[in-house]
Amino acid sequence: MGNIVATDISKEYFNRRYKKREKLDTGSIFGATIPVLEGVDFEIESGEMVCFLGPSGCGKSTLLRIIAGFEEQSSGILTIDDKPVTGASSSNIFVFQHSGLLPWMTVQENVELGLRNMKDLEKKEAEIMDYIEMVELEGFEHHYPYQLSGGMQRRAELARALAVNPEILIMDEPFSGLDFLTHMKMREEVVNMHEFLGKTILIVTHDIDDALSMGDRVIVFSSRPATIKLNQKLDFPHPRYIRQEDSELSVLRDELFLMLGVNYAV
Ligand SMILES: Nc1ncnc2c1ncn2[C@@H]1O[C@H](COP(=O)(O)OP(=O)(O)O)[C@@H](O)[C@H]1O
Ligand SMILES: [Mg+2]
Repeated sequence: MGNIVATDISKEYFNRRYKKREKLDTGSIFGATIPVLEGVDFEIESGEMVCFLGPSGCGKSTLLRIIAGFEEQSSGILTIDDKPVTGASSSNIFVFQHSGLLPWMTVQENVELGLRNMKDLEKKEAEIMDYIEMVELEGFEHHYPYQLSGGMQRRAELARALAVNPEILIMDEPFSGLDFLTHMKMREEVVNMHEFLGKTILIVTHDIDDALSMGDRVIVFSSRPATIKLNQKLDFPHPRYIRQEDSELSVLRDELFLMLGVNYAV
């Protein structure tokens, strides 16, 4: 479960600044439509963790919204487990977003939201604690979000997403705004939980090192309209040392920086 196949997906938006009669003085360099995705093909195996990289504004979030069924592609076919995606009905997809916690509920209650359908109370409570422990928040289950640091909030959000137990977890720049150390810890946390739960996880990130240290596969997009520049499996054990000189990963790291327009990677 959680196998995703995109075949020749394209997406264009209607250009609101385009006026037919005043074509020359609208200041728009585009036509009536703005192409965002163009001929995107990929297959994501069930249980894979895939990181998407690409310049800002190229169409990454658009692609995730199409996969989640929030938006429709202009052409092409997208299937999840061999069924075409039609609308956001898919109950087995969860979109992780920051500030996804309800501020008037404790950590425990927020995580419990994902387990609403569970009848056996004892089992439910145990499961809630499992998820809270998985993100190392034991002792904070009765705290409200405002009582937690930014990093702890993000971990609580992760526990809530896990409790939903989706086949596919979608994360759009999940680490943005975190301090460096918390970012590193969250990376570890996500890798551990992925190894443990084996769900399909899609992560959009602008951080090449996120992709190299976490992904089972990395997909790199061109600038808009996004086409796939690279789709590569990363078959390396964890933890990964991505900056070891001349290692396969560090060579790939340099290539990715170049691909994204940076000549001197640090
Ligand atoms: N609803 C929309 N209507 C019109 N244009 C949009 C809409 N959503 C996104 N875009 C445009 O599509 C392009 C890609 O956006 P997005 O997918 O958010 O990029 P990314 O996530 O890669 O930074 C951007 O130029 C953006 O302005
Ligand atoms: Mg985006």
